[in-house]
Amino acid sequence: MVLRMALIGCGRISSKHVEAIVENSQIVRVESVCDLVIEKAEKTADQINERLGYRPKVYADYKQMLKEVDIDFVAIATPSGTHYQITLDCLDHGKHVLVEKPMALSTVHMSEMTTVARRRNLKLGVCFQNRFNPPIQELRKKLESNAFGRIFHGTISVRWNRNQDYYKQASWRGTWDQDGGVLMNQSIHGIDLLQWMMGGKPRRVLGLIKNMNHPYIESEDLGIGVVEFESGSVGIIEGTSNIYDRNLEEVLSIFGEKGTVKIGGLAVNRILVWRFPNEETHPYMNLSDPDTVYGKGHVALYKDFCESVMQNRDPYVTGEEGQKAVQIILGVYKSALENRWVDLPVDFSTEQMKRWSF
Ligand SMILES: NC(=O)c1ccc[n+]([C@@H]2O[C@H](COP(=O)([O-])OP(=O)(O)OC[C@H]3O[C@@H](n4cnc5c(N)ncnc54)[C@H](O)[C@@H]3O)[C@@H](O)[C@H]2O)c1
Repeated sequence: MVLRMALIGCGRISSKHVEAIVENSQIVRVESVCDLVIEKAEKTADQINERLGYRPKVYADYKQMLKEVDIDFVAIATPSGTHYQITLDCLDHGKHVLVEKPMALSTVHMSEMTTVARRRNLKLGVCFQNRFNPPIQELRKKLESNAFGRIFHGTISVRWNRNQDYYKQASWRGTWDQDGGVLMNQSIHGIDLLQWMMGGKPRRVLGLIKNMNHPYIESEDLGIGVVEFESGSVGIIEGTSNIYDRNLEEVLSIFGEKGTVKIGGLAVNRILVWRFPNEETHPYMNLSDPDTVYGKGHVALYKDFCESVMQNRDPYVTGEEGQKAVQIILGVYKSALENRWVDLPVDFSTEQMKRWSF
């Protein structure tokens, strides 16, 4: 069986979608590509043609595309602030949806997206592709077998660089309406992994955000968060786009009663420390860094999402799972804005951060 899909948004991350479509060509075929800037959609259609030998139809208007093209699902890779409306429109047309992270920028929007998808019995998947990184999968297996015993604390450090050129390329980046700052855009993958590994529900959060070196954006370029989980475990978040003079690392550490694990590299792609009783090493200590911080996870993510549609089961990263990291980040934002601990879940949106000044 081959699923037919459409891709909306042919910008920076779309190359990872193209790679995933190419690598999964036995189960997926892209019928159409769409971008407000038609030349970008044309270019993506050309890339598909070059690599797969067929050319998808090209659209600038996704609503027209939804009316005309016969597809099973839509992948959405447009600016974050547009995900909510485009997702709802696709669901309304009876299409399954695979949406880029963050799935939306408001808690109300996120719950509407998941509710509508469930009500219509459609799949909603979220692109947290790093959950598929081989070292992350190994860590997850240890957690699922309770190898750590009690978890005391965990940390995520995202130490990357985003310069003015990156923000000049797309005016939505760094705005509260359409994006958020380094926590919501760059660090969200790591925050998702931290909360996924710590397990259980986060109870409250304390946040501090700053704009140290990006006066041309509205949002933060340094974000710090402390998350207390209902279990009593504590998660510590450090996200920055200020690292001189290029991306340094993304490091996830989990510290438990009977285990210590540290996964690092450019984007949590290599095991640095692996300590359990009678186990002090792991073959994934020698893995090399990917070409970009986006890694290769979209290939496995697409395979899983297509199989979830074909087998009528939940995707590995559902809409409900996709909300969790956004909830924590919105909690950090609210806490920073109000200068106090904030209980989770919050009812908040990045738009409310327009009151913040640095
Ligand atoms: N999973 C990851 O690792 C990862 C990495 C980078 C970006 N992202 C996410 O992907 C999304 C896109 O990011 P990007 O860096 O590729 O942005 P981008 O600005 O490079 O590309 C977005 C594209 O969407 C198009 N677009 C905007 N509104 C549209 C609409 N209504 N209909 C059709 N096309 C429309 C724009 O013209 C643009 O070409 C963001 O949500 C971002 O957070 C995810």
